Amino acid sequence: MKSKVNLPKKVKIVEVGPRDGLQNEKLFVDNDIKIALIDRLTSAGFINIEVAAFVSPKWVPQMAGSDIVMNGISRKPGTLYSVLVPNLQGFEKAIEARTDEIVIFGAASETFSQKNINCSIEESIARFIPVVQAAKSAGIRVRGSVSCALGCPYEGEIDPKKVVEVVQRMANLGCDEIDIADTIGVGTPNKVKTVFEQTGKVFSIERLSGHFHDTYGQSLANIYAALEMGVSIFHSAVAGLGGCPYAKGATGNVATEDVLYLMAGLGIETGIDFEKVALSGEFISNALNRPNGSKAGKAYLSKINNAQ
Ligand code: HMG
Ligand code: MG
Repeated sequence: MKSKVNLPKKVKIVEVGPRDGLQNEKLFVDNDIKIALIDRLTSAGFINIEVAAFVSPKWVPQMAGSDIVMNGISRKPGTLYSVLVPNLQGFEKAIEARTDEIVIFGAASETFSQKNINCSIEESIARFIPVVQAAKSAGIRVRGSVSCALGCPYEGEIDPKKVVEVVQRMANLGCDEIDIADTIGVGTPNKVKTVFEQTGKVFSIERLSGHFHDTYGQSLANIYAALEMGVSIFHSAVAGLGGCPYAKGATGNVATEDVLYLMAGLGIETGIDFEKVALSGEFISNALNRPNGSKAGKAYLSKINNAQ
């Protein structure tokens, strides 16, 4: 059977578990555990891992210690270690920590912008200008993240035009890559196609990424829809960790193991070792004493454990 559409032959999977995955944990996760997780993920072959956030520790206490994490990890040449920065204060810390890529994070929803970063969309863009300029002068890559691109916990439906506006503004700032983020996991495939079709008109589809949370169980379907639109960068978190402290009820990111299983089945290259990721998922689930949120990860682990 021949597919009607040409899917990308290769995709980049950005592992966001150490940051997006862990930021919502109530109990502080020891820096050594974070470091061990990141080192395992590095050895699994990711070329981009979102490892930390230089945000206010009063807003997100779990990300305190990001400098210790950045200094403690074993870096592999060719792998980008990204961190979130909301302002110049965060950027300076990111530079000290020798980050490879900064992530500025805005939203397509005014209310979410206020709740998450305490300013309007307009103010956020103004705040990002000197951050991006400083990053460019330092030769550091910049990614922009657009939250609530498929729905908002406070405003509900979000008009794709709002997403296009923010993408356009982030493109004008000079972002190298821009994330279309379904923060609360409410998107469905047709909406995903619409948002990529629209945003793809103002920023090249090769540099747009899909960041899906799995709250309503739609994330793999949404990834497939995005693949059909030509998207070739996806974010995921090992063991399906995740959630945003300012988006109550949102569950984890799509599980990396599930995404890898999907891509392998589609014959799409990722360059990542599934078994190592599954074992990393077991490691972090045990460390956090919580169930593993990846179906493919659990299936694989039960198979190898039963074979022993
Ligand atoms: P503010 O309170 O308006 O900031 O917060 P401020 O400039 O008035 O400063 C207040 C205090 O914070 C001061 O300390 C500053 O020094 C400190 P004090 O004098 O009170 O002791 N401060 C900082 N400390 C460390 N690092 C910094 C920093 N900046 C200020 N960079 C601010 C504004 C943006 C700082 C705050 O709202 C914040 O940190 N928000 C971060 C929220 C966050 O991290 N959310 C989760 C990430 S977004 C996400 O998960 C979505 C994503 O995954 C995509 C998706 O799924 O949608 C990316
Ligand atoms: Mg997220």
